[in-house]
Amino acid sequence: MKGMILAGGLGTRLRPMTLVTNKHLLPVYDQPMVYYPIKCLVNAGITEIMIVTGEENAGDFIKLLRDGKELGLTRLEYAFQVGEGGIADALKLGRYFVDDDKVCVILGDNIIENNINDAVEDFRNQKDGAKVLLKEVHDPERFGVVEFGDDGETIVNIIEKPTNPPSNMAVTGLYMYDADVFNICETLKPSSRNELEITDVNTEYLRRGNLTSATLNGWWTDAGTIESLHRASNLIAESGANKV
Ligand code: G1P
Repeated sequence: MKGMILAGGLGTRLRPMTLVTNKHLLPVYDQPMVYYPIKCLVNAGITEIMIVTGEENAGDFIKLLRDGKELGLTRLEYAFQVGEGGIADALKLGRYFVDDDKVCVILGDNIIENNINDAVEDFRNQKDGAKVLLKEVHDPERFGVVEFGDDGETIVNIIEKPTNPPSNMAVTGLYMYDADVFNICETLKPSSRNELEITDVNTEYLRRGNLTSATLNGWWTDAGTIESLHRASNLIAESGANKV
């Protein structure tokens, strides 16, 4: 399985810091943010990865990560995302890197306490389709949220940033797909925020009856706002999680 880390965007919610650097190069406690998703993939045995970044400061990723060997990577590729097309638009850039393999995708500002090793193993054994990782949150309106059927377990719908969330279970920014994901991305239409939405990709797998899920153990946070970046640093400092 290949890995992709999506590390583009303007990081507007972290200005002024992001006027001079990419969000994913900012420190989370004692390490650059992008180290955490890399470590998460390497822990799960995924050592061939592509980092998608863009616009200003893209070259700084190469200065920081070089060939990735020091972080345990065996292959590190970089892709440049032009503009702000959304997560599924960034994902498109991995088509030739992933080829006919499976891919584990992590949003570069998603940080977890534990690991995703069991979920990755399960997905290695899943013939095809997709797998999403869920986590209960207190502010579901900020995320993609799943709706469960009458049995309280089966996912029947996924709604991006719902005004009236059908549950407290957020779809985290850690996803696994078969190579058909690149065909699905080509069929998407921009959403009201003018982005190709990863929720639309997951909804297509759900429609096909080929979406599985697992719940993350331990804490999970994004680090894309001042508050969540601060929280992520504190959580890492307290737990020593994901140390490289
Ligand atoms: C994105 C996804 C959302 C997901 C979240 C996880 O939101 O669209 O479904 O729950 O990442 O961090 P965004 O960061 O674009 O607001």
